[in-house]
Amino acid sequence: MEMNEYEKYTAFSRDELLSKVEESMSEKRFSHVLGTQETAIQLAKRFGADVEKASIAGLVHDYAKERPNEEMIRVIVENHLGEDIIPFGNQIWHGIAGIVLIEKELGIRDSEILQAVYVHTTGSSNMSLIDKIIYVADYIEPHRHFEDVSEVRRLAEVDLDEVVKYETEHTLLRLIKEKRAIYPKTIETFNRYVVGMQ
Ligand SMILES: [Fe+2]
Ligand SMILES: [Fe+2]
Repeated sequence: MEMNEYEKYTAFSRDELLSKVEESMSEKRFSHVLGTQETAIQLAKRFGADVEKASIAGLVHDYAKERPNEEMIRVIVENHLGEDIIPFGNQIWHGIAGIVLIEKELGIRDSEILQAVYVHTTGSSNMSLIDKIIYVADYIEPHRHFEDVSEVRRLAEVDLDEVVKYETEHTLLRLIKEKRAIYPKTIETFNRYVVGMQ
């Protein structure tokens, strides 16, 4: 990848962006992020999406995951992101409020990249190709381990929508089993992509 192509979408060089992301998280999460980026690049090539956008979105998708709660709540309140998301915790904040920090601190303004980060944990009822790629890459990247992961990775070689379906269904099942809060957008994703509601 040419550096100048990458710089179309960020205020930093590829290496600068990489270290900014690395500095913002634990080593373990950074490995997950690099795995997500690599998987996103493969999926973008396979399904004909913009490879640089997928790569950058993969790299920055968890940028805000380790910020202190007080800071994230401040971002939500000051940017009027909807205080109804506050009880859901950082699992939901780091996408929705994360894009504010990604835009401000990493100089990324591309709406497709920001949108993919915004919905990466919950999906949405109207996902773009890049949205689906980041949603799926986050789920199947090489550091992820769950029972059917090899099967799901094989499925991702042929049918991205089938993986969106699988991921949404299994995420919901897990949240229910663990008696954890379900953000309404997750249900919208389920209705659209698992049930097939239009
Ligand atoms: Fe995330
Ligand atoms: Fe992630």
